Amino acid sequence: MTKIAIVEGDGIGHEVIPVAREALALLHPEFDFFPVEVGYRRWEETGCPCADKDISALKTADAILFGAVTTPPMKDYQSVVLRIRKALDLFANLRPIRGEHFDIMIVRENTEGLYSGIEETGENRATTLRVVTRKGTERIARAAIRCARQRSGKITVGHKANVLKSDVFFRNICLAEAQKAGITCNDHYIDSLSLDILQHPGSYDVIVTTNIFGDILSDMSSYLVGGLGLVPSANIGERYALFEPVHGSAPDIAGKNIANPVAALRSAAMLLAHLGDKEGSARIESAIQRTLDAGIRTRDIGGTAGTREIGNAVTNLLAKSA
Ligand code: NAD
Ligand code: IPM
Ligand code: MN
Repeated sequence: MTKIAIVEGDGIGHEVIPVAREALALLHPEFDFFPVEVGYRRWEETGCPCADKDISALKTADAILFGAVTTPPMKDYQSVVLRIRKALDLFANLRPIRGEHFDIMIVRENTEGLYSGIEETGENRATTLRVVTRKGTERIARAAIRCARQRSGKITVGHKANVLKSDVFFRNICLAEAQKAGITCNDHYIDSLSLDILQHPGSYDVIVTTNIFGDILSDMSSYLVGGLGLVPSANIGERYALFEPVHGSAPDIAGKNIANPVAALRSAAMLLAHLGDKEGSARIESAIQRTLDAGIRTRDIGGTAGTREIGNAVTNLLAKSA
């Protein structure tokens, strides 16, 4: 039986994940869903945001559907989502940004770079070590190549090699891997690339970059499609896979039934495609599109509908198309 771990997390995770789970349950009544409670609320209640047994539970799943967790900027608090990405070695973070005239896939390295966790805070100086390894770069470059092969076949490497030696290293390995694979690959400085993506989104296909650049680039690029409420992601490793919206726990709108569940629904569609159900994945995407086209939208994209209303509209369409 296919086991799906459901992690609502914090904030709007409690609102958008039930909607996405319902869509999955409708298409796959045979799925065995089980909850894993982690996050800031869990820390407030128990002093532990994520225990070893939660990581073990996540490892028993065929796929994980994840909402978002609140990560307070506190010295000794470790982000739960980062811990899970590292523990499950989910090295490739795929973030699609798709519109009428563009189809971009950001391939973000997900386990190293500035997120190495090697840090030191002293009285007068704080440092974070940016670690870029050959192994980490080769595997993210190969993930980008696999992606490009299924698409129009072009890769752009985003980096800051004019300043950072670690990015000269990253860029050179990516270019070499692409050349070996016979894939068209060019590179751009991340700062000018950011503007060019907004001005000429149609010029890009797969964009591969280091951890924090991919983080920033994906929130920024969500502007092209109407904001964070719409953008899903897949975190993929050799053995495990986790699907989550790009957005966070959005405490400013949590508990009001106004969060856009589309990013979570699209994450569920990516989960199905990963498990081999391309048709189910396309059915969720099409139900979302029809709902939006009918003007049933949350207020972040100009509508008045609530989270549950979008959920009901999408699940009604899925039930009809069965
Ligand atoms: P955020 O993504 O939670 O919110 C940014 C803005 O976008 C807010 O104004 C919010 O209301 C809006 N927004 C986000 N998702 C939306 C949706 N589905 N529908 C409508 N509007 C939406 O980012 P933030 O405010 O910088 O961070 C809040 C918390 O989330 C922080 O603790 C941060 O660390 C955490 N976070 C977690 C994850 C994750 O778990 N994967 C990702 C990003 C941020
Ligand atoms: C994301 C988030 C996380 C990240 C935070 C919450 C640790 O911003 O998934 O984009 O930086 O990767
Ligand atoms: Mn982010």
